Amino acid sequence: DTPLRGLAEAKGKVMGTAVTGSKLTGTYGEIAAREFNWLTPGNAMKWGSVEPSRGTYNWAEADRIVDFAETHGQQVRGHTLLWHQQNPGWLTNGSWTKDRLSTVVQDHIATEVGRYKGRVAAWDVVNEPFDEDGTYRPTLFRTTLGQDYIAQALTWARAADPGAKLYINDYNVEGVNAKSTALYDLVKSLKERGVPIDGVGLQAHLIVGQVPSTLRQNIQRFADLGVDVAITELDIRMQLPATQAKLTQQAADYRAVLNACVAVARCTGVTVWGFTDSDSWIPDTFPGQGAATPYDENYQPKPAYHAIAEAL
Ligand code: XIL
Repeated sequence: DTPLRGLAEAKGKVMGTAVTGSKLTGTYGEIAAREFNWLTPGNAMKWGSVEPSRGTYNWAEADRIVDFAETHGQQVRGHTLLWHQQNPGWLTNGSWTKDRLSTVVQDHIATEVGRYKGRVAAWDVVNEPFDEDGTYRPTLFRTTLGQDYIAQALTWARAADPGAKLYINDYNVEGVNAKSTALYDLVKSLKERGVPIDGVGLQAHLIVGQVPSTLRQNIQRFADLGVDVAITELDIRMQLPATQAKLTQQAADYRAVLNACVAVARCTGVTVWGFTDSDSWIPDTFPGQGAATPYDENYQPKPAYHAIAEAL
């Protein structure tokens, strides 16, 4: 059987997975290399990971993933430059003037994007900027720098690596709703102002049986603005234990997401947020839920895996 990455390539799409750098050996490494043509570090490129103390950098896991990707002919999605979670304590506990925070953010973006210039194909420059009602999430960046922090971050990222595709990434923006419309309005205004923005990332942390019916329409409206769309963090969780019926529904849900992306030329492809249930964030974050990925905890492909293959 053709691995997913071969099927995706034949359709001009990417098939990615989030990975944990320390696990990239043995069976985990073999599947990551064989089945996927894009990798996203699940945590290794977040600000708190790369600069735990101010001015002291730790690039080991991020480097390992980028090296692995190059060895295996894969591209890397950099995740993420600005987010309200997993930031270093010195940043979140600091008291910042607008000017000082602006300098620190610019320096962070220049340093991280500059380090991987030419080696990271796309960046999630800003992650999760909106609240559910479509207002800006009142993060440190938003409240201290003002809402133009997003335009500034994009501009600084472009300067650091003009060849990288620059994205804004968020969750619960897969269907047409207040939050995705706020993202749409932002991207439209950034495009009109000439701010560098190449794409939007729809995370797609979904629940079995609940793929938004407007997914394809929503992807299409962003494409019509002249930006790419990527499904960046797909997983489809269920209440445990997993049953055959739930795994069958999950396969149909994976198929629906893949079909929606395949149907729109500007949808670049799909990244799953971990390919195995043994490396998924879901059980830790949503107690009692899990089984959200295409492979079970023993690296056996689930019905969802076969549904992805058939949709590609
Ligand atoms: C998650 C990681 O998978 C976990 O290991 C970590 O403990 C928390 O963050 N949206 C995102 C990702 O953009 O960065 C998050 O990743 C999942 C939700």
